[in-house]
Parts: sequence; C-alpha cells; structure tokens
Amino acid sequence: MNKQDYFVPMDAELHNGKWVVGNLPEGFDWKFLDFLPELRGGGTAGRLDHSYYLYHYASLLPDNSRIVEIGTAQGASAIVMGTGIRGKNSIILTIDPGMMSDEEVQSRRDELTKYELLLGNLHHVMQNIRAARLEGYIVPIPDTSENALKRWDGRKIDMLYVDGSHTYEDVKKDCLWMQYVKHGGVAVFDDWIEPVEKAVMEYVAAHREWELLTRSTDQPPKHPWKTVFWRN
Ligand SMILES: C[S@@+](CC[C@H](N)C(=O)[O-])C[C@H]1O[C@@H](n2cnc3c(N)ncnc32)[C@H](O)[C@@H]1O
Repeated sequence: MNKQDYFVPMDAELHNGKWVVGNLPEGFDWKFLDFLPELRGGGTAGRLDHSYYLYHYASLLPDNSRIVEIGTAQGASAIVMGTGIRGKNSIILTIDPGMMSDEEVQSRRDELTKYELLLGNLHHVMQNIRAARLEGYIVPIPDTSENALKRWDGRKIDMLYVDGSHTYEDVKKDCLWMQYVKHGGVAVFDDWIEPVEKAVMEYVAAHREWELLTRSTDQPPKHPWKTVFWRN
C-alpha cells in the first residue's frame, strides 16, 4: 500500500441531487448498488460517495489482508468493502452487538444499555452477504467492539473501519483497536463529527506514528464522511 493511492478522487459529481458519473473502477459493482438501498440502517446504503471511497480503500489492500469493521448494522459497508477484496484471499471481520441473539442481549442487558445499539439480526446480515455473493469474505462477530477486543488474539489488521456508536467514550474504546493495525496500514473513521474527531485526535496525539492522510472533505463531493489515518 502506498499513501498516494488514498488520494484517488471519485470521478463523479452531484448535480441537483443526481450523480453525474465519469470513470469509476471496473470492479466497482454498479449492479450491486441497486441492491444497497434496500438495506436498513447505516449510512452507506445507496450513497455513491460512501461506497466509492470504502470500495477504493479496501481494493488497495494486498492479498491476504484483514479488515476489521466496528458497526455492521445490516452489512452495507461490509459488503461494499467485500466487493473491494473480491477475488483476493482477504477477509473482513465485522463487529456489532446488534447481531447477538435475543437470549444473549437479555443476559448482557446491564452491559449493553450504555451503547447506542441498532438491533438488527445476524440472519438478515447473512442474507445480505449471501445476496452479494460475498460468503467467505465477511465474518460477522456479534459482540461489542470493547468485548471483541478483549478476546482478540493479537492478529494484525490491514484496515480498521470504525462506524460504531459515535459517542466520545465509545470511539475512545474503538481507537484501542488501532494498536493492532500494521505499520503501513490504515484506520478509517466514518462521520467525522465532533465526538469522533475529539476521541480520535486524542488517540493519535498520544501515538505519534499515526498520520492523518485525508478526509473525504478534501475530495469530491467534499462530504465529511470518511477520515483516513496511516500508521507509519
Ligand atoms: C451507523 S451504524 C453502522 C453502519 C454500517 N457501517 C453501514 O455503513 O452500513 C452503527 C452500528 O454500530 C453498532 N454499535 C454501537 N455500539 C457498538 C459497539 N460498542 N461495538 C460495535 N458496534 C456498535 C450499532 O448497533 C449500529 O449497528
């Protein structure tokens, strides 16, 4: 991976609410975009710029890469990244307590009330993954980011995508996953809103090997959706 590759802007622009599309990458699955708006929850579904940048970042990863996503919702962003690694021997692990069984949610109720959860279910996420023909590329982890991190076995990560609860306290916990990102790997944050920015900037101030590479506000259509950090 190479820092410059992250600056390839999307060749499409919004005019009066409609996308005017130029040259988009061959593997960027247009047919599949028609299916995305049907997915409930999350900000990726049906959003061309979200999809393009996520697809692009995932497609830059070499073979045998590992992506960890925090915040699956119905699987739209995992699926978009999945189309970016299709054909490679790479994998996406996507974490969301919303995929836990009702029994587990009940048994961990006290722990879970502090999170802003979007309870979907694993069955729907699996259906969506199958519909996208991405079985084997995406592995759902029904848990919180915090608890999944406690159980993590130390494997290195090539790309971390954080789109979980967006509160300052939760994003601070999500940032702890950054310790497992490889040197030369990236951490991408969705929704660069104040609590997210504050938590992430505090983390990178204390871990100087992290470098802010680009924000989607720097590139067309200049929406504040994605911010990319590189680990030197
Ligand atoms: C904005 S949605 C994710 C959207 C998804 N990435 C997409 O673009 O399709 C946020 C998700 O984060 C989940 N979430 C909230 N707290 C979490 C935590 N502590 N760990 C993991 N996921 C969490 C919610 O249940 C919700 O499904």
